[in-house]
Amino acid sequence: MLLLTPPMGWNSWNTFGEAINEQVVLESADTLVSSGLAALGYNYLVIDDCWSLRERGEDGRLVPDPEKFPHGMKFVADYVHSKGLKFGMYSCAGTLTCAGYPASFEHEFVDAKTFADWGVDYLKYDYCFHPSTIPGKVLYKRMALALANCGRDIVFSACSWGSDETKTWIKETGANLWRTTGDINDSWRSIKDLSLIAEDAIRYGSINCYPDMDMLVVGMGGKGNVGLAGCTPDEYRLHYSLWALLGSPLMIGCDIRSMDEETRKTLMNPDVIAINQDADYNQAYDASAYAVTYMDGERNEHPIYVRLLSNGDLAVGFFNFADETSTRWNSYLALDRIGLPESTGKTLKVKELWTGEEKTITNGIFSVPLPAHSCRLYRAEIVDAR
Ligand code: GLA
Repeated sequence: MLLLTPPMGWNSWNTFGEAINEQVVLESADTLVSSGLAALGYNYLVIDDCWSLRERGEDGRLVPDPEKFPHGMKFVADYVHSKGLKFGMYSCAGTLTCAGYPASFEHEFVDAKTFADWGVDYLKYDYCFHPSTIPGKVLYKRMALALANCGRDIVFSACSWGSDETKTWIKETGANLWRTTGDINDSWRSIKDLSLIAEDAIRYGSINCYPDMDMLVVGMGGKGNVGLAGCTPDEYRLHYSLWALLGSPLMIGCDIRSMDEETRKTLMNPDVIAINQDADYNQAYDASAYAVTYMDGERNEHPIYVRLLSNGDLAVGFFNFADETSTRWNSYLALDRIGLPESTGKTLKVKELWTGEEKTITNGIFSVPLPAHSCRLYRAEIVDAR
């Protein structure tokens, strides 16, 4: 199954956790369409953990909890499809899911068939309660084989949290994306922690095997299953900008039925989405002067990620993860570092994608001092320097 760009959509876990049910799913499907999110590319609706009964049926198949899903899963899938969306579900490589529901270990083929029968288009596959005697890479291969032979195209989303060096073997399995880290939660601490280790994982990404930096917490405002302190609008925007620029899947985790204006603006910027979905999927790199891992294991708190886009433009993101305003010295990009020394006679004409501000860079230095916990994301055109 070929997935040409990182998947975008909505997943139930961050907000609903165990409280997922048919009504939430149907209303979220409606909202993906009515809000305009689907038209921007958010077209996978994924039900995460806690959807089944605690026991398999007599036929050995997984059974949707009839209290949560009174009309069964085929009904839900049909509804989601009727909205022009794709339908995703969740299982796990171990004996139980992370929340303790039956999982697919030694039921891989029957479960893949069940998902195919229901009309599932995407499977998130977790890593809890897996037997320690069988390597993770074999467990993911089992389900990948089952999915590849179930008679339906199903995106395979591996969720082994980056453990056991997932990045080094994930492409062998045929998975379309893999989780690079442990779970995100709705706090600045979590966003910063995941962000500062992302660069290591994205090196292993490519078209059809995307590094999944975890579901978005944008717009959660401290509410819901992984809601903690919540984040400021700047912090959510930094989080979204980084996920988009580094080529992570963009799976919304807030309750989209009640998004505020700020959340809408962050999630629905077509210029930012175009960078995430750029057809070439070139790898982003840190072009800041401090693009080094610090001696004591700390990461660069002022990365400047640059990514070549398919039309020859560059995406350039300045990030300030520090608790103080950055200076022109720790937030500057020397154009010779990105292949534009003075001898080329070229410079950058840039547009900031959140504010629309435009300017042309002079003297070979692009400097953007930033408030704490904020970012600027530019699309840059290569033009003649005058
Ligand atoms: C793990 C995953 C999460 C979520 C939960 C569900 O923690 O990493 O994304 O799917 O399980 O229990």
